Amino acid sequence: MKNKPIIVPVASGKGGVGKTVISVNLAFALAQLGKKVILIDLDFGGANIHTTLGYETAPDGVGNFLNQRHMKLEDYVLDTTDKNLKIIPGDAEMVGIANITNVQKKKLINQLFNLDAEYIILDLGAGSTFHTIDFFMISPFSILVTMPEMTSVLNAYALLKNSLFRLLYINLKNHPEVNELFNKHMRKGGESAWKISEILDKIEEIDPEIHVNASALVDTFNPKLIVNMATQPKDVQMGEKLRKISKSYLSIEMEYLGFLYHDKQIHQSIIDRVPIAMLSPDNQTYQTIVRMAYKIVNARCLPYFLLDIDNYDDSFEMIMEEATDDLASLIQDYENLTGENLVNINELLSIIKNLEYENIELKRKVERLEKRIIQYKKAISRK
Ligand SMILES: Nc1ncnc2c1ncn2[C@@H]1O[C@H](COP(=O)(O)OP(=O)(O)OP(=O)(O)O)[C@@H](O)[C@H]1O
Ligand SMILES: [Mg+2]
Repeated sequence: MKNKPIIVPVASGKGGVGKTVISVNLAFALAQLGKKVILIDLDFGGANIHTTLGYETAPDGVGNFLNQRHMKLEDYVLDTTDKNLKIIPGDAEMVGIANITNVQKKKLINQLFNLDAEYIILDLGAGSTFHTIDFFMISPFSILVTMPEMTSVLNAYALLKNSLFRLLYINLKNHPEVNELFNKHMRKGGESAWKISEILDKIEEIDPEIHVNASALVDTFNPKLIVNMATQPKDVQMGEKLRKISKSYLSIEMEYLGFLYHDKQIHQSIIDRVPIAMLSPDNQTYQTIVRMAYKIVNARCLPYFLLDIDNYDDSFEMIMEEATDDLASLIQDYENLTGENLVNINELLSIIKNLEYENIELKRKVERLEKRIIQYKKAISRK
């Protein structure tokens, strides 16, 4: 029997930090090392891998697959200039399916694991939506990209926190007493910045056996970190801050996968719509990405699944939506970080400003989308 592919999801808390650039070039690098690779665009908000590879318009891809009952994911695989590398693009239809159902998600995940490849790179959308989180946790080989600036780091932290919470909540959902504990913590929101170790202690008081399971889940969740667009060596410290916060609050051990500088050639490759891997394979940044590919190939083999997809449940989504919407809760968390000298007050003020701005932008976006849905519905009912 052939081995299942190793899935490498690439995520970030904040947008525009370089996930797509890294996914595309990492896929080329793995292919160059002789591995069979499929790169998949799973950015439901802004699929653009096809653009970076020179396509004028998006060929049918994941969106079409999700909307068609009888198609297989493998039907959407396209060749690239490298015989080892194939892609499955996102497409225009994907934008309309921000709310894929659990059935669709399971169908997609099951078919992912049946694709004919050794490595599958998933370019995810930014932020902590459930789909992003679920794909982020699909594999122990996930990558978290951040820029060396405070907003990006703290958004990355929020993504880790939400992911870990969802992982535990979903996997332990058959234990009502433990679930109530999670619900209470979520509802408390801004009142306290929790540490996962405290929650684990409480779980141990409730049931030592569940505690063993929960601790194992936390131990297995260790995404790899990439700091991108650094301008000076000391930017590496921002990654360190994230690692420290994640360890002390979330008990997540994150390994550094790499550190990439801001590189004009990379930017040019985006404008030229040719990946740096093809445009200039000797480029320093690309060579650093090749090093990351080596690390991935040589990583020890971990279990395939973190999140048991049979456990998906929407009830959590509601609670989490409330909690992530709660700006106050985030701010309180960050204030606690100030107490530990991980963030200074000016950084904190800029974070709050940015979060508020992003919140307003998101609300506007939702309003615009809602209006469009209403217009579509009207148009359809008139037909
Ligand atoms: N190391 C780098 N040096 C210079 N520019 C970079 C680097 N990495 C990414 N960029 C630039 O940053 C911009 C955003 O990159 P990219 O689209 O990969 O981010 P993203 O995280 O996928 O964004 P989104 O969240 O919108 O999907 C692009 O214009 C790209 O050219
Ligand atoms: Mg992107």
